[in-house]
Amino acid sequence: MKNINLCIAGLGNVGSALVDLIEKNTELVNFKADLNINILGLSAKNKNKKRIFDVSKYKWFQNPLDLLSVDGLAPDILVELIGYEKDISYELVKSAIKNKINVVTGNKAMLAKYGQELFKIAEENKVLLLFEAAVAGGIPVIKTLKNIIFSNKIKKISGILNGTTNYILTTMELENKSFGDVLNDAKQKGFTSDHESELDIGGYDAAHKLTLLTSLAYSAQIDFNLNQIEGIYNITIEDINFVKKLGYKIKLISECSLIENKIYASTKPKLIPINSPMANANGALNAINIETDHLESLYLEGEGAGGPPTASSVFSDILEISSKSLTKSLGFSYSKLIKFEKFNSSNLESKYFLRVRVKDQPGVLSKITSYFNDNNISIEKILQIPDNDSKSMPIVITTHKIKSSELLSSVKKIADLEFILDKISLIPIEY
Ligand code: HSE
Repeated sequence: MKNINLCIAGLGNVGSALVDLIEKNTELVNFKADLNINILGLSAKNKNKKRIFDVSKYKWFQNPLDLLSVDGLAPDILVELIGYEKDISYELVKSAIKNKINVVTGNKAMLAKYGQELFKIAEENKVLLLFEAAVAGGIPVIKTLKNIIFSNKIKKISGILNGTTNYILTTMELENKSFGDVLNDAKQKGFTSDHESELDIGGYDAAHKLTLLTSLAYSAQIDFNLNQIEGIYNITIEDINFVKKLGYKIKLISECSLIENKIYASTKPKLIPINSPMANANGALNAINIETDHLESLYLEGEGAGGPPTASSVFSDILEISSKSLTKSLGFSYSKLIKFEKFNSSNLESKYFLRVRVKDQPGVLSKITSYFNDNNISIEKILQIPDNDSKSMPIVITTHKIKSSELLSSVKKIADLEFILDKISLIPIEY
């Protein structure tokens, strides 16, 4: 039986679920892998917080840096689940790998910002820095890219990488509620907090995760600045109801591909055909579609957040390290990372959904359509559905494919017309 000594820093939902998993599934792990996991020490902010396991069974360290040497013994693996973008998370991980201790982390924010430096140090010190839990919680997308479809050339990865925003969009639709009301529900249910919600709703959490997928897919240097990010702040219940009538759902989609040998990495709301599997990944689920030269579509869906699913991913990294895997942390050597330029997405063509609230007066519709005609924007569908307001009404338009730069410049001009009453919603359509 092989013995692996572990220290865990951070005992929130995921850290606690990991201790619980190790306690409850010891026999299974012993049986399947001839592996015994021994927890050398734990550290978290508050020892006395109520947790799902008995803290008193373990050695406790108030300072997480003390986990790097427990009574003179260095752990085989340090598990970092504190989750700060820098500060103690970064200091702890950096010290561990410099001391030749393998690290498992779920910290996407830290890796998206400082991964370029940290993976280099890990490789120089011949240890692994693994991060299955950092992307899409319980979905094994990192190992799928790194190991299973290792030999494939990746054409495109697209998906829903943030559970909170997916919960908000789904609940707005199902309960016909406003963005603000559902955000409060999500905070009360503990899906997100005041601090986290900015990262979630602003699209940054999903972009952190996409940064890591982009590196794995294209051997790209880890560069958060390659991302183009738009959150879901502006999505209204009106948009959600209209796009449904047109056969779509709105999802926060993160996607990356290589276009003209430049990185296109985008996180923004998109319209998804209502019958596609991803449109039906509801609630806090995550979903990822990978297109390669060998697989038209590899679709993964599952719980993208929460203690038990994410702890299961953390454990898969512990197993990878324990089995003395020869696979590198990122699936290839750090020295092979390529510095790509950012693709200018204003040249990207897409269909678009537009919603505009106008004064209810004669000639408005024809003025808008003639404006579109004059600017070579081809309309696919147009809907004008009066609502309770007698003075104004929404007009919904979907376009044929057009470059975003061309559409944006026309929309800016339309926005200035005297009968336009509100901000124009503009969302690209996945087809
Ligand atoms: N806040 C994230 C989400 C979970 O809602 O998906 C951790 O990344």
